[in-house]
Amino acid sequence: MSLAPIPLLDRYRDILARDDERFAVTLGEGGTPLIHANRLGEEIGLANLHLKFEGTNPTGSFKDRGMVLAVNRALASGARAVVCASTGNTSASAAAYAAAAGLPCYVILPAGKVARGKLAQALAAGARMIMVDGNFDAALEAVRRIGEDGSAVVVNSINPDRLEGQQTAAFEIVDALGRAPDALALPVGNAGNITAYWRGFRRYAADGHRLPRMLGFQAEGAAPIVRGEPVAEPETVATAIRIGNPASWDGAVAARDQSGGLIEAVSDDEILETQRRIVQLEGIFCEPASAAGVAGVRRLAREGRIDSREVVVCVLTGHGLKDPDAIQGEEGTLTPIAAELGAIRAAMGL
Ligand code: F0G
Repeated sequence: MSLAPIPLLDRYRDILARDDERFAVTLGEGGTPLIHANRLGEEIGLANLHLKFEGTNPTGSFKDRGMVLAVNRALASGARAVVCASTGNTSASAAAYAAAAGLPCYVILPAGKVARGKLAQALAAGARMIMVDGNFDAALEAVRRIGEDGSAVVVNSINPDRLEGQQTAAFEIVDALGRAPDALALPVGNAGNITAYWRGFRRYAADGHRLPRMLGFQAEGAAPIVRGEPVAEPETVATAIRIGNPASWDGAVAARDQSGGLIEAVSDDEILETQRRIVQLEGIFCEPASAAGVAGVRRLAREGRIDSREVVVCVLTGHGLKDPDAIQGEEGTLTPIAAELGAIRAAMGL
């Protein structure tokens, strides 16, 4: 008997694979935990709150689910290289999967706005880093053009293989709960993930499952879908979702409207406070953007807009270790004291 887990793309190959398609590259993506958040749920006032922790993916974010399919297909199609624009996680994932596939990887990033851990990941994997004086939206526009001349395969979510692969998170949630949740909450940036989840739930719904309300949350300073128009200079502490003109805007609006859901904005303060409560009450350290979904659900529960018995799943999209700077200034003083028992006891206050 083999103890090796079935790779994600093989587990759902009935849905995802083309005839006889073989997937050469896997890093062990998917199969992330769905955690019943008892303590956080009690604080928020929800008895059935679950966290889908995507930080346990190989590069620490949900991007790996779609990247594995996009890079396998790029490789099979004879691509010479892959390219992406990114707020950080897509670049970390592209760099890793391209390395495993033996393909050169180019990443175009907004200078000064990518979390340190994500930069380190792409650098370490040998991606060619191109920093631009501009935001993600400008970088993605350039990448679209580069993709048109065929010199590299674009692995942003404008590549349909990305969203195909990202649906697997919805499949896993339905498989774990035995049903779809009543509501699914997640952060919205380029709006690919909310589009992919909705597509995934509908595919499984064909098997007789109910459909969740889709609850998307943008950061207040980067909330184009909430405002109904692009934001020229998006700004938020949650750099992963610092996006002013999402590529999958229409998909997000369709997910919201068809599901009877909503897309609203949360403040940076709500995001950071919620990020802290998640790890303090549940032990799960997610990055700031990932806390946006929980922050939004917290507000909805407070306002009585979610019933306390509903089954609610919040997607924690990325690992907290990616963005250590988001925690600085909150650690208290880290000034050393003498390495003596008395001094240490005194400092412990015990
Ligand atoms: N959460 C995290 C941690 C992300 O990295 C992203 C997007 C999102 C949420 C939003 O997902 O774009 O599908 O709506 N990060 C992209 C990147 C933009 O380049 O890594 P979305």
